[in-house]
Amino acid sequence: MKVYLDTVGDQFLSSELKILTAFQKSSEKKTKSKAKSVELTTVSIDHWKDQGLKEEFHQLKATKNFKATKDEMLSFTGATGETVWVVGLGNPSKIVPEDIRKSVAKVFKSSKSSKFSEIGFDVSGFNVIQDEALTTKLLMEALYLTDYNFTKYKSKKPDNQETKVILSHIEKKNLTKIQKIIDSTKNICESIHVARDFINEAPNVLNSVEYAKRIEADVKKNLKGVKIKILNKAQIKQEKMGMFLSVNAGSAFEPRLVHLTYVPAKSTSKTKHVALVGKGITFDTGGYCVKPGTSMAGMKNDMGGSATVYGAFRAAVLEKAPVKMTCILAITDNAINEHATVPDAIVTARNGKTVEILNTDAEGRLILGDALDYTCDLKPDYIIDAATLTGACLVALGNQVCAVLGNDQNWINEILQAAKDCDEYMWQLPIIEEWRQDIKSKVADLKNIGTPMRAGTAIGAAFLEEFIKNDVKWAHLDVAGVVDSQSHLPYCSPHGASGLIVRTLTHLLLHAK
Ligand code: BES
Ligand code: MG
Ligand code: ZN
Repeated sequence: MKVYLDTVGDQFLSSELKILTAFQKSSEKKTKSKAKSVELTTVSIDHWKDQGLKEEFHQLKATKNFKATKDEMLSFTGATGETVWVVGLGNPSKIVPEDIRKSVAKVFKSSKSSKFSEIGFDVSGFNVIQDEALTTKLLMEALYLTDYNFTKYKSKKPDNQETKVILSHIEKKNLTKIQKIIDSTKNICESIHVARDFINEAPNVLNSVEYAKRIEADVKKNLKGVKIKILNKAQIKQEKMGMFLSVNAGSAFEPRLVHLTYVPAKSTSKTKHVALVGKGITFDTGGYCVKPGTSMAGMKNDMGGSATVYGAFRAAVLEKAPVKMTCILAITDNAINEHATVPDAIVTARNGKTVEILNTDAEGRLILGDALDYTCDLKPDYIIDAATLTGACLVALGNQVCAVLGNDQNWINEILQAAKDCDEYMWQLPIIEEWRQDIKSKVADLKNIGTPMRAGTAIGAAFLEEFIKNDVKWAHLDVAGVVDSQSHLPYCSPHGASGLIVRTLTHLLLHAK
């Protein structure tokens, strides 16, 4: 996608497809009989800059039925044969930023399926929030996020013509600022695409070794100045990561622990250090506690947490985040062979705690526990981990809402605020003392499951909390519901990876105090 900025509107006028908006305007009209008034709804296109287009619109017969309700669209052919789409946005006082993203994503999809390759947007028509910069950001997010498909394995590729997007009627004085916003939105969305590509990749291709290699290649190519260290199995053994190794025991592939470090240009001893940790299970069979076939399909997404934090780290580096960042990705599959860990096994974690593995399908907390302990040794101020940790998260919050839990309310509040700022759904769940007790084992220090069918997401978090030390402020995101199949969001694919939460985390890192 190539983006052009147009201040006067001439590029817009000559574009193959023009997209304008229309609002609903309500007014009161007194009726003759009584003093009662009725509410009248009319369509408003007062904001259109081009008189010619306005006249053409008013002359159309079809406008009589067009009410400019949300998502309603009117199409007509302009005087010079170009196509004009008028997108209804409903009552402007009721429009929230996410409506703009959704509306633009839908209209962009339609334009793609109608094979338009040059689209002009009248940005001012979407600027209901009276902020041209923010409106541009919303528009570009919607366009970039929608402009993604995973067609690598399709023999017949859809003709992926590059779209020319013209953002029109931008105020001249805002040009530099708007260009910056476009560039940064592109960086962030490209990082989301990287995360989506990792998640969508087939698990027989993206094994642990391959995944680490691809991350290394991306870092070397795109993230100048970022240090990368990849721990292999021998080094993970040296680190005494007994839980991580127990998950990898049944695998045909070695585990990998990817360790990335970024230090901002102007760094002092006061610069905050934020660590991101991600669950990278390239495929979750469940291990000996094998998943039934229907729940196993889709478990290539079980590295979604690692892709999410990597995507955010990547975007924040490209956008020169003001904080020190560490990104730790624990990568293996959870597979079964004769060496695989059996239920009842007792292993020793990196922090010395012994853990009774009562369910080999609760593997995410095992690899993350060791990764978190390793991360705490790096003395970050804050940790945030992301993991497709529990099916229970889908029961509690559906597949639309990300769960957040942790040990520091201020840190959780900051994360919740970031999610709100980015219009990504997130909700806090508690960790209570009773659930901490629920993971105490009779024969070891801990067991890796609590009472079946009870507070599964929080039990998972309570387990992770056991591996946080040095008073590090920690929060855990359960992204099990939101990594894929976001059919309610037109800028995500209804089946594949969503790339959600990358925007929230990037925003958090870029605005960290
Ligand atoms: N990767 C799964 C969680 C999951 C389930 C993610 C569905 C996305 C969709 C995780 O490793 C798992 O299997 N968790 C178990 C934990 C249980 C055994 C305590 C679960 O949720 O059933
Ligand atoms: Mg599992
Ligand atoms: Zn899993």
